[in-house]
Amino acid sequence: MSLVFAINGQRFDLELSSVDPSTTLLEFLRYQTPFKSVKFSCGEGGCGACVVLLSKYDPVLQHVEDFTVSSCLTLFCSINHCSITTSEGLGNSRDGFHPVHKRLSGFHASQCGFCTPGMSVSLFSALLDADKSHSSELTVVEAEKAISGNLCRCTGYRPIVDACKSFASDIDIEDLGLNSFCRKGDKDFIKSLPRFNSEKRVCTFPEFLKDEIKSMNSGMYRWCSPESVEELQSLLVGYKANGNGVSMKLVAGNTSVGYYKDEREQSYDKYIDITRIPQLKEIREKQNGVEIGSVVSISKVIAALKEIRVSPGVEKMFGKLATHMEKIAARFIRNLGSIGGNLVMAQRKQFPSDMATILLAAGAVVNIMSFPRGLEKLTLEEFLHGSPLEAHDLVVSFEIPFWHSETNSELLFETYRAAPRPNGNALAYLNAAFLAQVKDTAVVNCRLAFGAYGTKHAIRCKEIEDFLSGKVITDKVLYEAITLLGNVVVPEAGTSNPAYRSSLAPGFLFEFLHTLITHHTTDKPSNVYNLDPPKPLPMLSSSQHVPITNEYNPVGQPVTKAGASLQASGEAIYVDDIPSPTNCLYGAFIYSTKPFARIIGIHFKENLVPHGVVAVISCKDVPKGGKNVGMKTGLGSVRLFAEDFTINVGECIALVVADTQRHADAAANLAVVEYETKGLEPPILCVEDAVKKSSMFDIIPIFYPQQVGDTSKGMAAADHRILSSEMRLGSQYFFYMETQTALAVPDEDNSIVVYSSSQTPQYVHTSVATCLGIPENNVRVITRRVGGGFGGKAVMSMPVATACAVAANKLQRPVRTYVNRKTDMIMTGGRHPMKITFSVGFKSTGKITALELEILIDAGATLGFSTLMSSNIIGALKKYNWGALSFDIKLCKTNLLSRAIMRAPGDVQGTYIAEAIIENVASSLSLEVDTIRKINFHTYESLALFYKDSAGEPHEYTLSSMWDKVGASSNYDERVSMVREFNDSNMWTKRGISRLPIIYEVSMFATPGRVSVLSDGTIVVEVGGIELGQGIWTKVKQMTSYALGMLQCDGTEDLLEKIRVVQSDTLSMVQGNFTGSSTTSEGSCAAVRLCCETLVKRLKPLMERSGGPISWNKLISQAYAQSVNLSASDLYTPEEFPMRYLNYGVAVSEVEVDLVTGQTTVLQTDILYDCGKSLNPAVDLGQIEGSFVQGLGFFMLEEYITDSEGLVLTDSTWTYKIPTVDTIPRRFNVELLNSGCHEKRVLSSKASGEPPLLLAASVHCATRQAVKEARKQLCMWKGEDGSSSSTFQLPVPATMPVVKELCGVDIIESYLEWKLCANSKL
Ligand SMILES: Cc1cc2nc3c(=O)[nH]c(=O)nc-3n(C[C@H](O)[C@H](O)[C@H](O)COP(=O)(O)OP(=O)(O)OC[C@H]3O[C@@H](n4cnc5c(N)ncnc54)[C@H](O)[C@@H]3O)c2cc1C
Ligand code: FES
Ligand code: FES
Repeated sequence: MSLVFAINGQRFDLELSSVDPSTTLLEFLRYQTPFKSVKFSCGEGGCGACVVLLSKYDPVLQHVEDFTVSSCLTLFCSINHCSITTSEGLGNSRDGFHPVHKRLSGFHASQCGFCTPGMSVSLFSALLDADKSHSSELTVVEAEKAISGNLCRCTGYRPIVDACKSFASDIDIEDLGLNSFCRKGDKDFIKSLPRFNSEKRVCTFPEFLKDEIKSMNSGMYRWCSPESVEELQSLLVGYKANGNGVSMKLVAGNTSVGYYKDEREQSYDKYIDITRIPQLKEIREKQNGVEIGSVVSISKVIAALKEIRVSPGVEKMFGKLATHMEKIAARFIRNLGSIGGNLVMAQRKQFPSDMATILLAAGAVVNIMSFPRGLEKLTLEEFLHGSPLEAHDLVVSFEIPFWHSETNSELLFETYRAAPRPNGNALAYLNAAFLAQVKDTAVVNCRLAFGAYGTKHAIRCKEIEDFLSGKVITDKVLYEAITLLGNVVVPEAGTSNPAYRSSLAPGFLFEFLHTLITHHTTDKPSNVYNLDPPKPLPMLSSSQHVPITNEYNPVGQPVTKAGASLQASGEAIYVDDIPSPTNCLYGAFIYSTKPFARIIGIHFKENLVPHGVVAVISCKDVPKGGKNVGMKTGLGSVRLFAEDFTINVGECIALVVADTQRHADAAANLAVVEYETKGLEPPILCVEDAVKKSSMFDIIPIFYPQQVGDTSKGMAAADHRILSSEMRLGSQYFFYMETQTALAVPDEDNSIVVYSSSQTPQYVHTSVATCLGIPENNVRVITRRVGGGFGGKAVMSMPVATACAVAANKLQRPVRTYVNRKTDMIMTGGRHPMKITFSVGFKSTGKITALELEILIDAGATLGFSTLMSSNIIGALKKYNWGALSFDIKLCKTNLLSRAIMRAPGDVQGTYIAEAIIENVASSLSLEVDTIRKINFHTYESLALFYKDSAGEPHEYTLSSMWDKVGASSNYDERVSMVREFNDSNMWTKRGISRLPIIYEVSMFATPGRVSVLSDGTIVVEVGGIELGQGIWTKVKQMTSYALGMLQCDGTEDLLEKIRVVQSDTLSMVQGNFTGSSTTSEGSCAAVRLCCETLVKRLKPLMERSGGPISWNKLISQAYAQSVNLSASDLYTPEEFPMRYLNYGVAVSEVEVDLVTGQTTVLQTDILYDCGKSLNPAVDLGQIEGSFVQGLGFFMLEEYITDSEGLVLTDSTWTYKIPTVDTIPRRFNVELLNSGCHEKRVLSSKASGEPPLLLAASVHCATRQAVKEARKQLCMWKGEDGSSSSTFQLPVPATMPVVKELCGVDIIESYLEWKLCANSKL
């Protein structure tokens, strides 16, 4: 029997018995088809990189249904008779790109490109949906939602949203951002966009497949798809009767394995697909309610609930249920995940479900078929309370009743959820739903449900329901109800943020019931008490001002990123897309789970070698003559595999090598490492311990910054001092979409070729050669493009590639690895955590006279590039004139994860430290923070004192004027007053606004380049820098075109189209150095410019000899004929210019904090950034926005939690929350400043990759201001002296629990107590 299906219109037919039913669609696509656009990034349904369009055909209705799914969770066998469309199926380089690809590319919406195929499919699906819907046109609202659920770590989302919105029929073209189709104000703008033509649209379901649709024989194989309840029943009865020792699983959407990952590794004897049973798929509107079959997808439930038109009350209530369900996961999960699957997860495995809570309040009942009891009807409450369903119990359907209000009463229904992402794709900290029958201000009866807060399952608060029934709602009744709630909503031990979660319950109940008081009293005080249910987020809007210069054409033009359409279609090749060579094996890391322990041995669970395992590679396999080295740079080396002892959690112990990646990953999970700690010193697990034990790394003196002035004098001159104040900063994970990956292929004569996703191929090269003990000319490292690096692929790419090389060398077979997300998160480190102690002296005016700092940096167990940290921290911190500055910075050597240098390493911490100090000074003087910042700005003279080697010329110091410029363009002063007014008139939301400057010092490095002209006039360019998404290839192409254009022969104006930048190959381009520090693009451009100058010199005589105008192609033909050397290489060395220079930026951010949930919404951010003369304003704009949003993640969202031994606990998309489209500034304005001539820079350009990340501190500072307002109010309610309200630290990241805890977890109780007390005095 066969599985018949189509992929991109191509027919596939596979023998069902030959397929392992646990195979996912993603595995099939990536390993067994040429369609590589489908990327693996999380394997949990949490990122959208693997999204495909799944189409089903109903032969009776003759209707094709198309919807997106996450292929990493979809079981391959479930796609029988379905059609799959991937991004390359929409369009491609051979048949022409699809308008979706063209628009993503034209709106500059693809950087590293790893997320882009998934974005393309999500957007295409939204267009299809609109096309099929009644309105038949996409609206701006739908366009904005099209990609919610898809993660992008590079772009900051704004350009992607613009590309989506450009398809909307109701778009105001002024709202669309920078793009390559047309400029703002052009009349024909819309016409110039590539059209999505519904008539010519991609055929998502081929005709041949429609003809073939027939039912499968069920029951004969491990995978079976019964087509009726009776058939299923007989299978289940059979299983029950003979099932001893036979494992069986009912499969609906299979999305639960995204959460229960161990299920993915489990293989069942029988998989029963229940999605083809018509009775389970039905939605029936009955007299008293609606019955929904258990396998109906959540998306379909939402659509059905929105269509119910029984009465206005029911319509409203069902509408609210649907709106809440829209926040469950992402659309591509809701399209697949069923209502039944969700509730079974909640019932059987305590999943923190939203569905369970809202349906509990709605009074749903469940129909179950179990053996031997048969068909049963249970209330949802009974269902949830019952013992866990057995494998053969079937949930048939759910019924949601229609509630009608009784005479003279009103029915109120509301649902709530507090989650890190307002629009979904994040589990709730707590969810709630309330249904109440009310008469005037009295509750007749009610149902109150809470869930997801760390409880076995959603609960109803009967005690409070009883208490409220029949009561008129007054402040006193509310207070008593809330007090009772405090004893009920209590998270189980071990739940994170228990106080926060508990505090949400009173908040939501208060929100719900308080309306009764305010709606029915005449003295309602305007919006002060406004507690209407949460409003939807404001729509995104933006503006971009980019100076475009023609001086160095095409340098300076916003040229579209090289290869962006290829990235969108998914044809761009990343390391894991390279087809596996014959005999290829796959590796997975076994890492240490102990910080410091003796390794006694490694074995597999039950001493059984797992299926497919070929070898376990460890330090013993490093060949003779080689060294156990996994990372080697000019700054030192680090071992590859742990030897007798582990030195940190997450250290690499071994690489399991197996026949498939899945087998390797499964085997690594089954590996048991035996440790012993007897007789060993306790590990060093904090910086304080490191200090006690004098466990430090030396900081190389040239990297240790210089003190400025005499702080003891500065302190003496101060009117006020804050002494020995402490703060701490945690880590941040890179979250590149493409995890670490490498492929090592043994070659002739003891040589090896390694394909590595690396920012440092040169160092990968040296590490491999050193480890294998072979000469460097026996190693070749190739890197074409990297799916996001952010510093994470500088250090960690080395051991990953080296481990594959050791395995390949030992087994003499190609070995590759694609590290899974969890392992990547546990092994790769992240930002450096640190403890800061500061003393600051200042005048009464706010002028700071001295700053003394002690900084303890946790570098982890090995040094890596940590030695750079101290100068970076101080480099960014010196943005203010501290009068005098002294510091003592220690690099602590601990038994924690070795830290890597993440985008703006040290600089982001330095910025935070500076701002925290400024805020402390402002608070203690009760002055505006903005005033303190301005007072402490540098003059050019003080700048030159603080930044001796990099201050540049006076005219280059643009910061002061930028400060004023952005103040004016953002209406800063006016908005400060508006924020004040808002805070005076709103009790439950507070706003803050903050403007801050940044200074970012960068260094230039030696960078090589080569430019070669081929006989047809096309040009190939190699550079040391790696394309990470930062647009280096695009800038290099522009520079090559500009520099060769100096020849001024006919046709040089079209050179850009003739240039291809090719992959980096360490044997072809030596001294590649590393790609980082924001300056590699400039360095590479400088290198190719030198090469082009050489070529121009060689070609000039030929041109002169031609005696008249000559075309480029002719000139090249003649050069070939006359054997002119048309390949030039050079090494750009920055000695000729100052190596260091300063970058400036200013940002204003305004936020709104919800005091009930602690949620911060960034209402607006305005950025002004000095790019010099931008080499490519579109690329630089993308860097600025993307970097800012990554910084936003660091300051506000990304909670990096470890256990007490340093093992990362936030190791998945479930727990680690990077920004999504709903967490970026709702209005995002960016202006690039062309600051004119910078003689000593590359064509006057400046860096843009890292500095703007620091500007995100403005959001944190604005949040602190809003929190301060909340604390002031709380102090007033509590009758406390307000002085303590302003002196507090807002930790980083300022997540919802952090913000709420500072605003007061007892804020509702305090308010009510205050009010009751005030009332009693009347
Ligand atoms: C990334 C992500 C985010 C999510 N976020 C949220 C969220 O915020 N809130 C929320 O509530 N949910 C969330 N979910 C859960 C999601 O709603 C469920 O995964 C989905 O509804 C499960 O449906 P399924 O059809 O895929 O179930 P499956 O995975 O197919 O099944 C789940 C379990 O139920 C069993 N089962 C399925 N159907 C039946 C049946 N009819 N009778 C008996 N047993 C059955 C299966 O054997 C299996 O054990 C999220 C899921 C993902 C992947
Ligand atoms: S890889 Fe499938 S959603 Fe992330
Ligand atoms: S472009 Fe989106 S992750 Fe890189």
